[in-house]
Amino acid sequence: MQRWKHTIAYEIYPSSFQDSNGDGIGDLNGITSRLDYLKSLNVGAIWLTPVYASPMVDNGYDVSNFYEINPLYGTMADMDNLIAQAHKRGIKIVMDLVFNHMSDQCEWFKESKSSRHNPKSDWFIWKDGVAGEPGTRPAPPNNWRGIFGGSVWEWNEERQQYYMHTFATQQPDLNWENPDVRQALFDIANFWIKKGVGGFRIDAIPYIKKPNGFESGIPDASDGLVSVHTMTVNTPGVLDFLQEFKKNVTQGKDVFTVAEANGVGPDDLKYWVGENGAFDMLFEFGHLHDVEIWCKPSPYGIMDFKKALLASQEATAKNGWYPAFFENHDKPRCVNNYFSERVAADPKLRVLAAKAMATLLLTLRGTPFLYEGQEIGMTNVQWNDLEKYDEINTKAQYKMALQEGFSHEQAMAFVNRFSRDNSRTPMQWNADANAGFTTGKPWLSVNDNYVEINVAAQESDPNSVLNFYRRLIALRSSNANLDGGPFTALLPEHEQMMAYRRGDGIVVLVNLGETEVEYDGRLVENRKLLIGNYEGPFESSGVTRVLRPLEAVIYGM
Ligand code: GLC
Ligand code: CA
Repeated sequence: MQRWKHTIAYEIYPSSFQDSNGDGIGDLNGITSRLDYLKSLNVGAIWLTPVYASPMVDNGYDVSNFYEINPLYGTMADMDNLIAQAHKRGIKIVMDLVFNHMSDQCEWFKESKSSRHNPKSDWFIWKDGVAGEPGTRPAPPNNWRGIFGGSVWEWNEERQQYYMHTFATQQPDLNWENPDVRQALFDIANFWIKKGVGGFRIDAIPYIKKPNGFESGIPDASDGLVSVHTMTVNTPGVLDFLQEFKKNVTQGKDVFTVAEANGVGPDDLKYWVGENGAFDMLFEFGHLHDVEIWCKPSPYGIMDFKKALLASQEATAKNGWYPAFFENHDKPRCVNNYFSERVAADPKLRVLAAKAMATLLLTLRGTPFLYEGQEIGMTNVQWNDLEKYDEINTKAQYKMALQEGFSHEQAMAFVNRFSRDNSRTPMQWNADANAGFTTGKPWLSVNDNYVEINVAAQESDPNSVLNFYRRLIALRSSNANLDGGPFTALLPEHEQMMAYRRGDGIVVLVNLGETEVEYDGRLVENRKLLIGNYEGPFESSGVTRVLRPLEAVIYGM
């Protein structure tokens, strides 16, 4: 039985979840102390973003040693304890494998950069530059722009060569063409399986294969560069590496895999997941409003969101399995991301929106992945001060916005809208100092709204977002239609409403708009209202019925 299909997964960003020793940084013992809370949400798997040794340039996604725990988070004994305590509660720990790149401080890279002739000389991607005037440094090999801005190429004096980094300068890309590199990575994954982890989330994996010629592309901004994403994502050949990973690491073992696969769309699904695919699931980004250059956001509306969700549901109906997710540590909070500014600013609308998204998350076909704080409807921050932001991409994007001719105010508006720190502010546990996250000074400011939005307040309010999640989770786990039943879109062309059936029993209607909509009562004929996000007994009836702004309802037999 594929248990991961019937699990509720929960992503933890360790720095921001719970501090146990007052240093202002969340840690493993803090997570262990909150396992009963996660159990109360019926969570069956925790995805931990990286907790390995790291200089923390990209908050742990720059790993210097996969066999060690970052002392900021605790010790290997703390990790073993977390795994054991979680198991006791029927919860699996899912580790993040960052296999596209390493930290430039790892031993492998130190050796690789030391000369052109050492055993690890081609463990990373080294290229000669393009020679120019005698006596000047050669130019970078091509015009690719890294995900965090600037060229993907960094000059190295010792080797008189460039190395490639898809992300930050301090995150050199591994050379997957080298079988020794692949073996070393498989060994790491197997080490963690032996430790008893229940699965892996696999980071940035569609970038591991680079196109042979490393050729320049047509610039997409005034810096003359072109996105490395465009140039390298899902390059033919990547699946051979991934099948090898499966064969050497996960095949035949009781672990599940979920790949971060931005740029792998519904059409590719059958190669990536399912019986013959490399992974069990993949995070697809179609519905996320994913914006690579923040000052150039593409227009995005409810219909884009709805179309993307319908496309992924249609694809998994044929083959494979998706996680359902609307938030993670790289994206703004969902009540900000998918609705107008008015919604997040108005307490009543904000709660309705959080519950509407909850309704979708728990009723789509796929494994629901919650991100910490989503279950209480946490929101973006609005800091207007670049200094308060911590994460590396925010700084890079601010710079890029100025380069593209925007003013400071405009650049800050992009930052407030898209910064990854929006979802990385500390978890809001209660109304005490620092939201109960730490007794020290938090590494990243707590969102000011913690006094209203926090777990403790919501525990005691039967109508809270938190308790709404609990009711949805209970309904999902006790209802075979919701858990595994086929998905049938209803009203696919409707411009404001998501409407679908699960199995033959359940009908879900969600008004994603901020105005009322009418619908035909026959859609829910012979069914009763099981859950709705508005309070009170009022239920629309008759032939022509109404969904109020942001109203979400689930009808069943
Ligand atoms: C993934 C992670 C992100 C990180 C990047 C580089 O997208 O989710 O946080 O910065 O990979 O490892
Ligand atoms: Ca700590």
